[in-house]
Amino acid sequence: MNDMNKEPEDFFEKIISVKLSDDGSAVNIIDQTLLPIEIKRIDLRTKEELWDAIKRLKVRGAPAIGVAAALGMAVFSQGITAADKEGFCREYKAISDYIATSRPTAVNLFWALNRMEQRLSEIKEQSKEDIVRGLYREAEDIRNEDIGISRNIGETGFLLLKEIRERTGHSPRILTHCNAGTLATAKYGTATAPMYMALEHGWKGSGMKVYCDETRPLLQGARLTAFELSEAGIDTTLQCDNMVSALMASGKIDIVFVGCDRVAANGDTANKIGTSGVAILAKHYNIPFYVCAPSSTIDKGTKSGEDIPIEMRSPGEVSEMWYSKRMAPENISVFNPAFDVTDHELITGFITESGIVSPPFKF
Ligand code: MRU
Repeated sequence: MNDMNKEPEDFFEKIISVKLSDDGSAVNIIDQTLLPIEIKRIDLRTKEELWDAIKRLKVRGAPAIGVAAALGMAVFSQGITAADKEGFCREYKAISDYIATSRPTAVNLFWALNRMEQRLSEIKEQSKEDIVRGLYREAEDIRNEDIGISRNIGETGFLLLKEIRERTGHSPRILTHCNAGTLATAKYGTATAPMYMALEHGWKGSGMKVYCDETRPLLQGARLTAFELSEAGIDTTLQCDNMVSALMASGKIDIVFVGCDRVAANGDTANKIGTSGVAILAKHYNIPFYVCAPSSTIDKGTKSGEDIPIEMRSPGEVSEMWYSKRMAPENISVFNPAFDVTDHELITGFITESGIVSPPFKF
């Protein structure tokens, strides 16, 4: 049931995806695998715990993974015991390379690790205490910048929502896929940021509606997006992924906002499996389809969608997870890619912190 009386700030505080623990000795996350049934925070103190949390999607969503990795590198740098500076940098690099193997598709993970390594190379001649302090500062900067980036994305997306309301005379009905929400970033999300900005602009109870795809097989839409939007007081409806065509055909969707894990230089976009199908349907029904992303998700080093590594995940996520008993024959082959690539021609525009852009990108 949607609760229209929740104050957004209380809610953001309650579900911060990733931050430093109070004493700074650990990465503190909300365990997203337990949501929405249980809100439980856990401390990640070792590189193995962080790796496992990313792999198992306890912390997930491209920007949140990047922030977790950056905070983790600051925390783990404290424990490096090498006697000299070269040894420190060598040990640091080995930890960073290990964290980079946790998931392959979201470029924000590699972007954040590279940025931390770049900072280390600038301060490596300082004392160990100063190096560690500098790394903590850089990681906190990455986290705080992500909050500002999301707000900018939200303000630009909100202008599109306002335009729909002025043109049609009704409040916008938005479709989103997976979770590109506050849980997937430091705050506000990317695809959800326009909706949260709408609340800040007084649109609570305005009639704005969000339709969330449940997002098989890991149900990020049902467990996370439907949870966070309805908790924030947004009118939220959940549907199965295979209901999108019927929803669009009935004229109930004005605009699609999705997040992304990596945008190639030509604009091809990897996002949660199922996104490309939504884009194809949006084109068919003539509905604008926007990808919302920080510019750090645009990877000029990746030429086109064919060059984006797509994570393949365990068969059990399809054949038995969430079912009270197994729902597929034993030993059946399972196809379980975590992401797909949406052709750039299906994307109306990319909403970034610098406004709406299209390829070729200037970043
Ligand atoms: O496998 P997940 O849950 O990490 O996939 C997340 C997505 O596909 C999100 O849409 C994407 O990371 C953008 S989050 C702002």
